[in-house]
Amino acid sequence: MKVKVRVPATSANLGPGFDVAGVAVTLYNTFTFELMDEGLEIVGCPEQFAGPDNLAYEAFCAGAREVGLTFSGLRIECKSEIPHTRGLGSSSSCIVAGLVGAFAFKGRYDDRQDILNLATRIEGHPDNVAPAIFGGLTVSVNAETVTTLGIPVKNDYRFVALIPPFTLSTKLSRSVLPDVVSRKDAIGNVSHLSLLVASLINGHDEGLRIGFHDHLHQPYRGSLIKGYDEIMGRLEKDENVLGSYLSGAGPTIMAVIRADDLMGVVRLKEELHDCLDGWEVVKLEMDQHGYVCDYE
Ligand code: HSE
Repeated sequence: MKVKVRVPATSANLGPGFDVAGVAVTLYNTFTFELMDEGLEIVGCPEQFAGPDNLAYEAFCAGAREVGLTFSGLRIECKSEIPHTRGLGSSSSCIVAGLVGAFAFKGRYDDRQDILNLATRIEGHPDNVAPAIFGGLTVSVNAETVTTLGIPVKNDYRFVALIPPFTLSTKLSRSVLPDVVSRKDAIGNVSHLSLLVASLINGHDEGLRIGFHDHLHQPYRGSLIKGYDEIMGRLEKDENVLGSYLSGAGPTIMAVIRADDLMGVVRLKEELHDCLDGWEVVKLEMDQHGYVCDYE
């Protein structure tokens, strides 16, 4: 038996929702797991990820321990659309896929809450794994267990990912953040995230223009990304861009536009042409399903 798991990319934080909010988008990594008599074979990924420290394999082992699955060998076949180390949830996709794969061999592939708790423990925060598991735009509270709820987004938006040719590790991107923030900044983020969520539910696009602003992480991370200030400044001036933010830990920058802004991508490419040397511009929709698991 083979277990095939398709996991969407995710864009975390959405500006003020640091480690809390995230959205699943329509780029996918697919992993096929097959138990073998012995050994570990990982195909379809770069050589440096094809060993026992492969994140999908480590997550599969964690999932196997959790569900009491014993196995002596494993083959993993990977097909990746999500770019690595760009702030689009590639690591989360590996963690979620590995856990779902192991759970599936015990018939528990749809135990999403258990998979969420375990995935959050591995990742350290739920903002990427939650939408990868449930789909849509989610907010989560990470306490003894993780509580995740989907936000019913009223209007139809597109997420335009500006993906640079360089990577930025989450570790480095978190290392520049202060341990202590001012009350003003804390209140700033609570108010902006609240307004963002209320605006998404009510279809209040004017509220989005304010709601995406962040005080907790973006001001510290911008200097790690070449062109960040210039690109964010120009996106701010485009009245058809409803919000822009650093996707996850970066370096991808996300611009949010209305679905009926059909020329949005062409316009953004023109407006930013001298800042985007080697950058990819990809228009994404919200994924509403989260991971999908099939048996072959
Ligand atoms: N919330 C996380 C961060 C997402 O911004 O560091 C990346 O793992």
